[in-house]
Amino acid sequence: MGIFKWFRGKKNLDSARPVPRHIAVIMDGNGRWAKKRGMPRPAGHAVGAETFRTIATYCKDIGVQYFTVYAFSTENWKRPAEEVNALMDLFRKYLTEAAETMAQRGVAVRVLGDLSPLPGDIRKQIAEVDEIADSLGENAATASLCINYGGRDEIKNAVRAIVDEVQKGKLLPENIAEDTISAHLYTAHMPDPDLIIRPSGEIRTSNFLLWQSAYSEYYFTDVLWPDFSTTDMDKAIDEFNRRTRRFGGV
Ligand code: IPE
Ligand code: IPE
Ligand code: MG
Repeated sequence: MGIFKWFRGKKNLDSARPVPRHIAVIMDGNGRWAKKRGMPRPAGHAVGAETFRTIATYCKDIGVQYFTVYAFSTENWKRPAEEVNALMDLFRKYLTEAAETMAQRGVAVRVLGDLSPLPGDIRKQIAEVDEIADSLGENAATASLCINYGGRDEIKNAVRAIVDEVQKGKLLPENIAEDTISAHLYTAHMPDPDLIIRPSGEIRTSNFLLWQSAYSEYYFTDVLWPDFSTTDMDKAIDEFNRRTRRFGGV
């Protein structure tokens, strides 16, 4: 039995499956998952947070270098205060854990988004986590949590920063290249996502990584995020591996 278990573990880690360098997920369907069970929506978010831990660990184990998730959009403030507070508590809990374990796990946790409207204690936690992530060096895998993230908001902020540089005479308008814009986004030091997964049956981007997704492959599934398993991730990666990316060529 022992040896059988060893083989199974080995197979998982040494999977022959090539993996995308950067996978992003729109973690959707927590509310419906809870509703189906007669539970309050925050209960779905709590299970969704567990799924995030499982899938982030799995991605790291199979060699995905960048794993990015959409956790809270610039539009999600419209939700009832009770639900928003429950989500903030889950962020607190995850950031506490991240600060304690990321160095040992070799995963740089990053938070992407406009952090200014977040509660002060969470901003402080993010600054601490950021400092640890900075100390991990180039070889660490990166897990990014998009909080108060909106693709349009991100591009608007990039435009403001670029205009500011032009006004200060640091940048000539004719030197603004596509790379200049990429360099002013939250994802400045990451490659664009190769694969973007949206569970829960919705077929839209909901303002996620608008600039960065120009040539991403999308994968949609009806599975609700709290039910999303490592097998679902394998399916998404297998589908990705069957696609031909042409980037406009032939
Ligand atoms: C979680 O899923 C995503 C967040 C915005 C936190 P939802 O809460 O949107 O779940 P559904 O879409 O209502 O089922
Ligand atoms: C997108 O999901 C945002 C996150 C997953 C964080 P939403 O549930 O907010 O998107 P819509 O409202 O269905 O487009
Ligand atoms: Mg939703």
